[in-house]
Amino acid sequence: MRVGVLVSGRGSNLQAIIDAIEAGTLSAEIAVVLSNKQDAGGLERARKHGAPAVWLDAKPFAGRPDSREAYDRAVLEVLQKHEVDLVLLAGYMKIVTAVLITAYENRMMNIHPSLLPSFPGLDVQKKAIDHGCKIAGCTVHFVTEGVDEGPIIIQAAVPILEGDTPEALAARILEQEHRIYPRAIQLYAEDKLRVEGRRVSVADAEP
Ligand code: GRF
Repeated sequence: MRVGVLVSGRGSNLQAIIDAIEAGTLSAEIAVVLSNKQDAGGLERARKHGAPAVWLDAKPFAGRPDSREAYDRAVLEVLQKHEVDLVLLAGYMKIVTAVLITAYENRMMNIHPSLLPSFPGLDVQKKAIDHGCKIAGCTVHFVTEGVDEGPIIIQAAVPILEGDTPEALAARILEQEHRIYPRAIQLYAEDKLRVEGRRVSVADAEP
């Protein structure tokens, strides 16, 4: 299975995916890593792994009324050229449009650092602490048009501790992200995920 990974930043989730592939626990191949940011750490991690790393600048698309769709058409071209089966958003800070979502329906995943549907969007670790939550976590979900709204594949819970800071909590959540994202991708690779409406069931999962 060929995966295309979209990143905007440091790419620690991409690294967890690469590590799982290199350890033989994830049966996938990085077909391409694409970023809207030239200096994204994720591009460097891709190169080190020997995978194609593509920077696609959004500036030439800015200013036109369909700038986001036009950008996504260019992204789609890259993904198709590299024969990507599954698209993985990993710290990708652009909102993807219907152009990509339709082309990769139920074939595009995202990782988000909260227990969705609580706290979609940004700064979610701080929001969970400020709200007084006792448990935070992370979610891998399929991507649909509502931001952070798609069918949930796997979640992991992380306790919020007395005196926790957003940074400390984010670091503990990130450890769980690195565990569950490769796991979700492997379930997809094994063709074990079934999407019915909002629900994703895992075929032959333990009851
Ligand atoms: C992660 O917390 C992920 O859940 C969120 O953005 C962050 C990306 O981190 N969507 P990294 O670039 O994978 O290190």
